[in-house]
Amino acid sequence: MELIQAINERRSIRGFKTDPVPQNVLRQVLKLAVRSVSANNAQPWEFAVATGDVLDALRRSNQAALQEKQAEDYAGASLRGVYLDRSKALGKQLFSAMDIARDDRKSRSWWLARGFSFFDAPVLILLYMDKSLDETAFRFDMGCVTQNICLAAMEYGLGTCVEEQAITYQNGIREELHFPESKQLVCGIAIGYPDWTFPANNVVSTREAVDNITKWYGF
Ligand SMILES: Cc1cc2nc3c(=O)[nH]c(=O)nc-3n(C[C@H](O)[C@H](O)[C@H](O)COP(=O)(O)O)c2cc1C
Repeated sequence: MELIQAINERRSIRGFKTDPVPQNVLRQVLKLAVRSVSANNAQPWEFAVATGDVLDALRRSNQAALQEKQAEDYAGASLRGVYLDRSKALGKQLFSAMDIARDDRKSRSWWLARGFSFFDAPVLILLYMDKSLDETAFRFDMGCVTQNICLAAMEYGLGTCVEEQAITYQNGIREELHFPESKQLVCGIAIGYPDWTFPANNVVSTREAVDNITKWYGF
């Protein structure tokens, strides 16, 4: 796949086929992804890749946590102004595609729970780094490798959804995966073969025009 085509066509996938993803394909995606830039080439990223029974256990623990807590813990909750507007616009696009009305609380809860179930993806990649690394500085590198994973995945016909929701409730994940105390989770990526009949997968999120967000000097 051409680079420009991949960048243009990448989108978050929130409905997957049940087909398993071969481990060697996932390894190849990660091998490509770690060619990413990182400050001082420190390469802060580490990965935990879960499928099958282990992933089911993570889903169960996430659903239990969701029942117990309020989903307002969600990262987007602090957005204001234009950032909130963009987030709301995305929500509208997704709910419209899924035919979920504004006052349909049952379907909205179902949708929320889907996110905490990693959109039923056959695989979840958790990205983490050492707690000794400064989070502000190294999250940048984690973002770069994340985008590489999403793009590299497309070469193998895979779709991805980067998910804050995947790591909102961490106790269960840490327990299930025997996660070392010295490591911090940064985000999750649901990954698998896209189900193109799933309506939300047809959503193309909007972007601000480049000239609205760019100052040009010396041209
Ligand atoms: C750090 C991060 C966290 C995200 N968390 C979620 C999430 O929890 N649930 C979700 O459905 N999408 C999540 N997304 C996906 C964004 O909503 C999506 O990338 C954005 O709306 C742009 O849409 P696109 O990926 O289809 O281009 C996340 C993306 C990033 C970068």
